[in-house]
Amino acid sequence: MSNRFAGKFMVVTGAASGIGTAIAKMGAAEGAHVIIGDVNAAGGEEVASAIRGAGQKATFIKLDLTDAQDIDRFAAAVKEQAGVLDVLVNSAGWDLVEPFVQSKPETWEKVVAINFLGPVRLCHNFLPGMMEKGAGKIVNIASDAGRIGSMGEVVYAGAKGGLIAFTKSLAREAARGKVTVNCVCPGPTNTPLYHGQSDKLKEALNRVIPLRRIAEPEEVASAVLYFASDEAAFITGQTLSVSGGMTMAG
Ligand SMILES: NC(=O)c1ccc[n+]([C@@H]2O[C@H](COP(=O)([O-])OP(=O)(O)OC[C@H]3O[C@@H](n4cnc5c(N)ncnc54)[C@H](O)[C@@H]3O)[C@@H](O)[C@H]2O)c1
Repeated sequence: MSNRFAGKFMVVTGAASGIGTAIAKMGAAEGAHVIIGDVNAAGGEEVASAIRGAGQKATFIKLDLTDAQDIDRFAAAVKEQAGVLDVLVNSAGWDLVEPFVQSKPETWEKVVAINFLGPVRLCHNFLPGMMEKGAGKIVNIASDAGRIGSMGEVVYAGAKGGLIAFTKSLAREAARGKVTVNCVCPGPTNTPLYHGQSDKLKEALNRVIPLRRIAEPEEVASAVLYFASDEAAFITGQTLSVSGGMTMAG
């Protein structure tokens, strides 16, 4: 096991579950002090204490991405503990799968708040310190839905597509402060979010994946930790799909 994140503070949002948990556990195993931000306090505390139980470093701080004030409070608590943050991973996400014509404005607002504006607000909080220091890595978790579209996930796909474009543009501005900003797009991945989808949709998804299976959360986490590491020091503004070949975008 390498130690790519020794002495680094790494925020992982959404780490109470799924892909975020895998990122937090793998990051901590490589030396990071992981700060978990999630609206699910019981789940977040449980993951943090499992990491500490393995002799590694983790803290849980409650975070509700639908609440701008709560995001500022979270960021202030992180800065108090970490000083200038080394790595920000925006993994929290949420969706309600339904036809667009049946969807409600309250749902669109929640989807955009969690999947797009939440990461925007966290970047706005942490980026100035990183740029001043001349170091930092931001990794946003979008979705293949944002690259190729997805039935039943229309507004979610729009928010994730926005996050991809945000990543590219922010990467251009952050480069002068030596901060990189990249994006990982999971395809269907074995997490509670995926298991909330209908069997019909799951079968259809399996058929369009060239490698004929869904991803495990750790396979997505590996790509995230690569972008967060110094191995990817010269890579910024990029979007990488981890989806068994489902998406082969030029
Ligand atoms: N699983 C998939 O098939 C898949 C596919 C493409 C993209 N993604 C993306 O990957 C990321 C991780 O998804 P996952 O599959 O691990 O999902 P998950 O549902 O297992 O975990 C999402 C986490 O986000 C947290 N969260 C939800 N609302 C929040 C809020 N308001 N504030 C703070 N935290 C909140 C949840 O509590 C949960 O811990 C998401 O951005 C998701 O959109 C997942």
